Amino acid sequence: MNKPENYLIATSTIPEILAELHSQYQTLKDGVVANYIPELAKVNPDFFSICITTVDGQTYEVGDFQQLFTIQSISKVFVYGLALEDHGRDYVLTRVGVEPTGDAFNAIILDEQSKRPYNPMVNAGAIATTSLIKGKGATERLNRVLEMYKKYIGRDVFVDISVFTSERSTGHRNRATAHLMLNFGMIEQNIEESLDLYFQQCSAMVTCRDLSVMAATLANKGINPITQERAIDNRYIKDILSVMYTCGMYNFAGEWAYKIGIPAKSGVSGGIIAVVPGKMGIGVFSPLLDVRGNSIRGVKVCEELSQRLRLHLFDCVGI
Ligand code: DON
Repeated sequence: MNKPENYLIATSTIPEILAELHSQYQTLKDGVVANYIPELAKVNPDFFSICITTVDGQTYEVGDFQQLFTIQSISKVFVYGLALEDHGRDYVLTRVGVEPTGDAFNAIILDEQSKRPYNPMVNAGAIATTSLIKGKGATERLNRVLEMYKKYIGRDVFVDISVFTSERSTGHRNRATAHLMLNFGMIEQNIEESLDLYFQQCSAMVTCRDLSVMAATLANKGINPITQERAIDNRYIKDILSVMYTCGMYNFAGEWAYKIGIPAKSGVSGGIIAVVPGKMGIGVFSPLLDVRGNSIRGVKVCEELSQRLRLHLFDCVGI
């Protein structure tokens, strides 16, 4: 649906809106931080930041926007893009579907008929996607993922080694999921190597500002609006944004699409990215999570931003 250029509130009001939302939701202390590994359990639950980067390269930020945290499941979006570039849409579709599950992100389920994981945004699909990343050996494959992050963010990206080793030593459910897919021939490469790469991609360190630039790159047809470097072939943007829209918020994806109406992805460390195609990328960071693993303040902030800036993709009132 095409909206006229002036549908968006003047960008001059964005700093005030961000400051207002930050102070409004800072007092909301509901939820719990992820506690399945000690590194995530010890995070300061009060961290809170909101950033917007527009496709013309303006960044607006409030709160702890320079605080580093691990990207976790938000990585699934970008690694899916790399797998699409490595193999093309048709082949990737033979390995990972595009159907929402309505189940938790770590559910151990495959499509009954095709034996594919349902979509690349849940753990099973993300592990299958990661197994598709090309490279001669573990180091080259990791370097390709880190190079990809660098293009989206505009700086070198590092893996938090203690998070990675904790994820690896406790990731029995992900390992079980990988073995199930191996059983059905859905994963080809050495599964321990692919699981390591999956844990490493999740353990890459980013800031809330980085998240908004990554989201803005997707909003800007794959070109980082700050560096002007291309991060992803624009032919795959629609694939990525479609699965984010239908599957990015796990078993909250339907309600998110209905209420907020823009492609998004959350991670268990408290980050959320949301993409307004042709306009802006939004990053929110607040580690207090709801039962589905989505940041509580992050969801609230995106809901308010969607209403105030008229971001819902199907909102046509007054047009
Ligand atoms: O697979 C895992 O358990 C984590 N490393 C990533 C999980 C995650 O972020 C799920 N999102 N809410």
